[in-house]
Formats: sequence, structure tokens, C-alpha cells
Amino acid sequence: MRRLLMAGIAGAALILGAPAMAADDDALHKAAVENFKPIPAMVPSVQGNPVTREKIDLGRMLFFDPRISASIFLSCNSCHNLAMGGGDNIETSIGHGWQRGGRNAPTVLNSVFNAAQFWDGRAADLRSQATGPIQAGVEMAATPEHVLGVLNSIPEYRQRFTTAFPGEPAPVSFANLAKAIEAFEATLITPHSRFDQYLEGNRGILTAQEKKGLGLFIETGCVACHNGVNLGGQDYFPFGVVEKPGADILPPGDRGRFQVTRTAADDYVFRAVPLRNVALTAPYFHTGKVWELEQAVSIMGTSQLGKELSKEEVAAITAFLRTLTGEQPRLELPILPASTAETPKPQPMAGMQPPAPASTAPATPAAPLRQRR
Ligand code: HEC
Ligand code: HEC
Repeated sequence: MRRLLMAGIAGAALILGAPAMAADDDALHKAAVENFKPIPAMVPSVQGNPVTREKIDLGRMLFFDPRISASIFLSCNSCHNLAMGGGDNIETSIGHGWQRGGRNAPTVLNSVFNAAQFWDGRAADLRSQATGPIQAGVEMAATPEHVLGVLNSIPEYRQRFTTAFPGEPAPVSFANLAKAIEAFEATLITPHSRFDQYLEGNRGILTAQEKKGLGLFIETGCVACHNGVNLGGQDYFPFGVVEKPGADILPPGDRGRFQVTRTAADDYVFRAVPLRNVALTAPYFHTGKVWELEQAVSIMGTSQLGKELSKEEVAAITAFLRTLTGEQPRLELPILPASTAETPKPQPMAGMQPPAPASTAPATPAAPLRQRR
């Protein structure tokens, strides 16, 4: 609540709609610098896990290696595609045996700056996060034994774990796999967005429309929840502070953070999504039910702020959000070492069929062809 109040005060200092006078421009820049931080150009350090070149290289291999899944078909990159914004751009992810997960895959880009991971914050950091999807039945469905069996069967992996974790008696471990992936993920940052250049003093880089959107983002109160370096990712709020969105967007089955804390105050509470690169990460919300960024903004206005944003306001805020797309990480695709005779064989997605697409529902008989006379 304190933050909501502060945001209100910061917003009140802005006079919007007035001619773009230098004073307004100064006030807007000042409010922006107070509420947001640019993505650093350098790879950040990670608490308890020094980021080294050896760990990054190993982590990148593991991120792309489908052999750490039971089917040998899914890698982290299957659902966090680094060629398209670090997500999968579908409503909810498809995992082992074509199972549909319950939530939309958030981007891994800049996730190192989030206070905790997942829509409900149930993992404290990236290394405790990384072992989750490998074992999750609806994701990669592998056991630690399978994963360690794969890694130990491949001499290059054994050697790389030994180099990345020097002096350890048993370097090939599930915990070290998680640390290597975390180190790699720390490099997945997207600096130099146009908004970051603005924050760093290049005020001319945003158009009048984008500045109007930034002003509205602060003034209307979006900033109370979406602030800091990732414009979110730091705190949890009810989805529907003022008005619950419809059951299509917020179905009753997923109670968010309540499932983690079991306290009533956390019912339907979710993490304020980080908004970095949001133009690349459709569809939106934990259900992935909204494809248009404009619609997501408009829903936020009514659900979180009790405010019916006008079409022009939505357009301006969306224009601002599009300035949050940063320089995407340039990666070299790792060449993975070959399997050996000892490498565990894939567990087929035995007898599992992809779910029937909706269109195969009993077809309504086509309109009869006009009878030839
Ligand atoms: C089958 C698809 C799938 C695979 C494979 C997968 N993920 Fe995810 N990932 C998801 C989904 C869905 C979520 C959100 C789950 C939730 O919040 O409950 C998620 C969340 C995350 C997050 C949290 C991001 C944030 O902002 O909270 C990170 C980081 C992540 N995954 C990394 C990985 C890594 C590393 C791997 C490989 C070891 C991996 N994922 C494999 C679908 C997948
Ligand atoms: C009270 C806190 C709060 C306020 C105020 C707020 N948001 Fe949100 N925002 C959230 C939460 C929580 C979510 C995640 C909802 C979910 O899917 O469970 C979210 C999700 C979003 C998303 C979806 C992003 C994605 O990747 O799925 C966008 C876009 C967004 N907010 C923009 C805005 C804008 C623009 C405003 C101001 C008009 C705003 N928010 C105001 C808390 C807030």
C-alpha cells in the first residue's frame, strides 16, 4: 500500500495533456528515473554461485540438451525459445506426452532480476527453479537418476562438470546442473532498449506518444506494481484488486500464491509480471488467454485500478510498453557431445497421442450441395 501511495504522489507531479513543455519533460524523466532502472550492460553476479565462463558454457549446453528430459525430446529451449523472446508464444505449454500445463511460460530473459521465480514465486532463485521443470510430470518428466545417468555416460559432460566445479569430489550432480543453468540464465539479459536509453539520459529517443504512455503508466498507478529494473517481478498482488476479470482469463481452479502459502490473503494472488520485452511474449496473463497487448493493458486498468482507460490512453501505454524490447542475447548454438552406448534410451511418450484439436469435434454436416437438376 505504501508503494501505491508513493506512486500516486509521483504521478500527481506530472501534468499530462499540457503542451510538451520542458518542465513537464523534466518531471517525467525524473519520475521515470525514480521508479525504474535500466538493465545493466554487464552480466549480473548471482548470490552463492559465482558466474564463470565454464559454468555459462556448460549451462548453455544443458539448456539446449533434450536428453535431460525423459522423452529426449524436450529441452528448456522447447518452452523458452531464445530465438523468440524466451517463451513459447502459446497459451499454456505443452510438455511430456503432449500434456498441457496449467500456466503460460514466462520468458527466461532478465529472469535473474526477479525477486523470485514462477507466477506464484514458489522458487526463490533460478537454481532452485531449474530442477523443477526437469522433474515435473507435465514438463520434462525426468528423474534425477535419468539426468545423472545421461550426464555420466558422456565423457565430455563429465569433464566439463569437473572444470566448472573444480575441487569438488562429485562434480556431476543435480545441484551443479542447476548452478550451471543459473549461470547461463544470468547472461540472458536484454540491455539497451529504447526506454533504457531514455532512462540513461537520451530523452529524445522516445516519441511524444511513448512519453505520454510512460506518463500515464506512472500517473494512473501501473507503476505501483510494475517498477524497478524489470517493471515487475518483485511483488505479488491479487489479480483483480478492484474487479475480478472473467473466468476465461482468471479461471477459479488456479488460486495462484494461495497454493504456496495457504493463507486466505493470497487467494488469486500472482506476481506482477515483469514487463521487459512484453511486445515479444504474447499471449498474456498466467492463463495466456489474451493475445493483444492493448487488451491486456485495458484489462489491467479495470481489474487493478478500477479505471476504464480510453482507447487513446491504451494506445499510448502500449506504445510505451513496446519501448521495453531490449537487445536480445546473441547466442552461439552449442554443439552437444554425442551419446554413448551407456546413455539411457528415451522413454517414449508411450502410446500418448496429441490431444485432438478442437476442429476434429464432430463436424457439422456441410451444407448440402445444390442438387443438380
Ligand atoms: C514444457 C514446457 C517447459 C519446459 C520444458 C521448461 N519450462 Fe520453464 N516454465 C514453463 C512454465 C509453464 C513456467 C511457469 C510455471 C509457473 O509459474 O507455475 C516456467 C517457468 C520458468 C521460469 C520462471 C521465470 C519467471 O519469470 O518466473 C524459469 C527461469 C524457467 N521456467 C526456466 C526453465 C529451465 C531452465 C528449463 C529447463 C531445465 C525449463 N524452464 C523447462 C514451461 C517450461
Ligand atoms: C495492483 C498491482 C498491479 C497494477 C496496479 C497493475 N498491474 Fe499489471 N499485473 C499485475 C499482476 C498481478 C499481473 C499478473 C496477472 C496474472 O496473469 O495472473 C499483471 C499483468 C500485467 C500484464 C501481462 C503481462 C504478461 O506478460 O502476461 C501487463 C501487460 C500489465 N500487467 C500491464 C499493466 C498496466 C499497463 C497497468 C496500468 C494500467 C498495470 N499493469 C497495473 C499487477 C498489477
